[in-house]
Amino acid sequence: MSEMSEFSQSNVAVFGLGYVGSVTAACLASVGHRVVGIDSDLHKIECLNSGKAPFFEPGLEGIIRECAASGRLSATASAAEALADADVALVCVGTPSERNGNLGLDQLRRVCEGIAAASADRMKPLVVAIRSTVFPGTCDEVVIPILAKCPAITVVANPEFLREGVAVDDFLFPSLLVVGGHDPASVARVAGLYAGLPTESCLVTLRTAEMIKYACNAFHAVKIAFANEIGALSGQLGVDGQEVMATLCKDVKLNASKAYLRPGFAFGGSCLPKDLRALSYRANRLDVEIPLINAALPSNREHLDRAIRAVVDSGAKKIGIIGLTFKENTDDLRESPVLAMVEHLIGKGSDLRIFDPHVNMDTIYGSNRNFLLNAIPHIGRLLEAKLETLLGWADQLVVTQKPTAEGMQGIMRSGLPVIDLVGASTGPRVAVVMH
Ligand SMILES: NC(=O)c1ccc[n+]([C@@H]2O[C@H](COP(=O)([O-])OP(=O)(O)OC[C@H]3O[C@@H](n4cnc5c(N)ncnc54)[C@H](O)[C@@H]3O)[C@@H](O)[C@H]2O)c1
Repeated sequence: MSEMSEFSQSNVAVFGLGYVGSVTAACLASVGHRVVGIDSDLHKIECLNSGKAPFFEPGLEGIIRECAASGRLSATASAAEALADADVALVCVGTPSERNGNLGLDQLRRVCEGIAAASADRMKPLVVAIRSTVFPGTCDEVVIPILAKCPAITVVANPEFLREGVAVDDFLFPSLLVVGGHDPASVARVAGLYAGLPTESCLVTLRTAEMIKYACNAFHAVKIAFANEIGALSGQLGVDGQEVMATLCKDVKLNASKAYLRPGFAFGGSCLPKDLRALSYRANRLDVEIPLINAALPSNREHLDRAIRAVVDSGAKKIGIIGLTFKENTDDLRESPVLAMVEHLIGKGSDLRIFDPHVNMDTIYGSNRNFLLNAIPHIGRLLEAKLETLLGWADQLVVTQKPTAEGMQGIMRSGLPVIDLVGASTGPRVAVVMH
């Protein structure tokens, strides 16, 4: 969900004046808020109070100088002093890796304990917004329990997406603004801090706000690794990788777009698996390591296995599968992951029936028919020509492709539990949603 917020000046305390905190404090002051920064490092405090940036970041020093001079920006080592007038406390301390890769929460815990100690008798409402990158559940399990003794305090997650080197520009022209929390008024309060910026805030749940930061960084890393693997392989093939990727990006319908970016069922069909296999084979022969691209097929298989486990674990006696082809509106059955699922379930002795509006043994022919009969020789006996018949027979539905609106209504009306593998429905009857 997204919402326009009204700008109103707030008193903001920013805990941690590192790369994120300094930029956040300075830029919020520059758009009109009164900001006090807090850090345990006295050098950073002195820098801010004397109008200097504590480290190099293009454009930052000018903003700090101007805002410190105007009195809208100052810094202190005292949490109590910074919190006295604050409406919002933004926590921007480090969350470095521990030796085992897990997230280190020491700085976060210490700051929250400091806020709690300084707010024991507090009456004025305070929203504590966690801007540090924290794993989903951290606010609920770590931050909120520490602050629970202070009834005036509520907690939201408000991750930061700026990039060092262009941090000021990223802050003032955000690629994404996200605020999530249990209390809508507190979420709106923090979204209001950014109302003067040209990007609307996405208001989401607390854990989504925590997770989105990881999703974004993982996505960026995967994009970079993908482009580098295509570049390396192209180079070995005597092809200009820059031209290949620049051309790939010209496709804003399927490539640089929302397409294929929703969690759903495993991919299949006549092209993706075949072409990935060919690419892996060639790269291997050329001694070019492409581990990311090589991982796509095993990842897809794992996703299929998750779906199979969900069906098996349902314990259903009569399984009605809706959709047999690898996606809706086609009768192409080649490498459909549903066929692999059906084969597996039959092997386990499951009783199942299948409805697919485009698969009819009387009309499919050629390689498509051979593929189907090779996979499941007695498939004809499992196919139902009408959705209603399937709905009347089954005690568990598995939706593997998006049904028509009419089909969806029938499914919901049936009252049957649904394992929804494509995110087709989120109604109360959905017993298991995979994503
Ligand atoms: N650096 C980035 O580009 C970037 C971008 C987006 C998000 N993040 C995330 O933002 C968070 C902060 O990152 P950073 O790079 O600004 O970290 P940083 O290490 O540069 O800054 C952390 C600051 O917190 C201060 N601090 C630590 N404990 C404190 C305490 N108890 N009280 C007061 N101050 C304390 C430190 O002195 C330091 O100045 C991390 O979770 C990081 O993952 C970073």
